[in-house]
Parts: sequence; C-alpha cells; structure tokens
Amino acid sequence: MPLEFTLNGQKVSLEDVPGEATLLEVLRQRLGMLGAKEGCGVGECGACTVLLDGKAVNGCLTAAWQAAGRQIATVEGLAQGDELHPMQRGFVETGAVQCGFCTPGMILTSLDLVEQEPVPGDQQIRRALAGNLCRCTGYHDVVRAVRRGAKYMRGEGEEQ
Ligand code: FES
Ligand code: FES
Repeated sequence: MPLEFTLNGQKVSLEDVPGEATLLEVLRQRLGMLGAKEGCGVGECGACTVLLDGKAVNGCLTAAWQAAGRQIATVEGLAQGDELHPMQRGFVETGAVQCGFCTPGMILTSLDLVEQEPVPGDQQIRRALAGNLCRCTGYHDVVRAVRRGAKYMRGEGEEQ
C-alpha cells in the first residue's frame, strides 16, 4: 500500500508498504532512520520508541499504516545542525549514555513526559521511563539527565 506521513517535519511518500509492516521496520529499512532500535520486538524494552503526534509509542508494536497522515518524530530530527536538543544535552552531560542502545527511546519518552509535565519529579521520571530498559546505566544518571534536559527546555541554566 502507499503510505504518506510527516517524518521530522518532512513529508515522506512510500509505495508498496506491506500491510503487516511495523512503523519501526519502515523507519529503519525504508527510510534509513536507525536511531530507533529493535531490542525485544514485542513491546517490552522501549528501544524502538518514537513520537506519534507527540506521544511516545513503541515502533515495534505500531503498524506502519497507523502513521498515515500523522507526525512522526525520531531522534534524528532533534538536533539543529551541530546543536543538540536540550534533552540530548542533558543526557550527554550527565553521563547517562553508555552503549547508547536505549538512549533514543529514553530521550523521546522524556520529551513526551516534559510536554505534559515541564518540571518532572524523580518519581514521575521513573514512572514515565518504566517501559524503557537500560542494560548499562542503572537509571540514576538517566533521571538526572531528564531533570537537566527539562531544565534546559525551560530555558534555565545549569543543573541543580
Ligand atoms: S523493540 Fe519495541 S519495545 Fe522492544
Ligand atoms: S546505555 Fe546501554 S542499554 Fe542503556
């Protein structure tokens, strides 16, 4: 089937998308967007998280056709040229990125959270990220990263 949606602000038009294709498959295999990862493939790890109309969803559980006519954001669309998105800066500066496999999903889930709650507390951050698994960091630095990223997004300076 043909499929059109907006990806990181740009219209994309695809032909011959199989009806059973997932959004993750289309992003990675047809559009070269490799930021969203396939970890478990069954909705448990969050590595495949992207934003669908601003809401964090698992790309592995979202049918590609569900993206039709909608706005998809992936981690590739966040930086402006050489300038990282404030949430990306938060992750980099706090050492919350180790192997990086989970990081795009963590960042996109965090953006969904901060959209709803601009000043998230630690418990809110932990709850929001409950579906994003990390094998490396132990989560403590991730919570700091989201606090710092949220702060930068509010236009405030260095971390508490
Ligand atoms: S790959 Fe989608 S939740 Fe794990
Ligand atoms: S940084 Fe390695 S899985 Fe999270």
